[in-house]
Amino acid sequence: MSTEPRSATANAGANIALIKYWGVRDSALNIPLNDSVSFTLDTTRTTTTVTFDPALPADELVIGGKPATPAATERASRHLDILRNMAGLTWRARIVSENTFPMGAGIASSASAFAALTVAAAAALGLSLDTRTLSRIARRGSGSAARSIEGGFVWWHAGQDDASSFAEQIAPPDHWDLYDVVAVVEESEKKVSSAQGHLLAKTSPFLETRLSLVQNALPNVRQAILDRDLATLGPLIETDALAMHFVMMSSHPRLYYWTGATLEILQAVEKWRNDGLPVWFTIDAGPNVHLICEAKHHQALVAAVRALPVVRDLIIARPGPGAFLL
Ligand code: DP6
Repeated sequence: MSTEPRSATANAGANIALIKYWGVRDSALNIPLNDSVSFTLDTTRTTTTVTFDPALPADELVIGGKPATPAATERASRHLDILRNMAGLTWRARIVSENTFPMGAGIASSASAFAALTVAAAAALGLSLDTRTLSRIARRGSGSAARSIEGGFVWWHAGQDDASSFAEQIAPPDHWDLYDVVAVVEESEKKVSSAQGHLLAKTSPFLETRLSLVQNALPNVRQAILDRDLATLGPLIETDALAMHFVMMSSHPRLYYWTGATLEILQAVEKWRNDGLPVWFTIDAGPNVHLICEAKHHQALVAAVRALPVVRDLIIARPGPGAFLL
């Protein structure tokens, strides 16, 4: 066997969930309690090079030119183990990763990171895997990464086990020119990780209510996406984002991801809509608000968001491609 290092580079995008993933059936495998739906973003991307090298004593991870924390390196290393086992190779690897967006800008980098890592590592190891398998593997690194393997509008089937829990595309990126304008109100890293949060979901008395709302909303969300019908989709995504945050806020211990600025923006959304600007919100596990509108309204929306004193920064994204090799 050749001892030449084996290397590959991949690019993947973050995604914004329209129906959220919150709560796990199996935390070791990241099998969620409910199906979720997202679109992959075009401007918030991660590029990762993985080089398996027999001369390396341990895995190394560099993010944005800086060595990652031991915890992050360990998480990436465990992920590579899944792929190393599949390929029957024990070589350690150097992982070099760059994001087009600042970490902790309110966009989770783990979805794009684990999607790019999975695709790059599989290629470097000479594994040729179909999209479903890549999605299943990415899921084990970070649940939402399962969705970032695919581009455009994506549905993650919760499934019951490793084989049945994967994401697939509902519609390609050019199906619908939606905008995600992220009103960034805080740039610090969240205090309670999603991984910890997923485990707390079951302590909320509102979990069952949310899960039944999700069950009813899912087919309508799919149809609204296929029909490019934001007037139908908008209220469904707002209700789910609120339901997820009610679950978070009623967990033991409580999880408050919102700040006062979050609520200020939600109230601004009501006003903008009353004034004739069709925009709807969704919120991940943090205080920043994702504002969803159609292309023809994005300039008016961006101007309205910039005028809010609580907004510190703004990220603009549209549906983008899935993970690909460079
Ligand atoms: C609120 O477990 O995928 O964004 O690995 O910490 O990025 P990280 O998160 P993950 O949970 C994502 C939770 C969510 C909703 C969603 O994206 O569906």
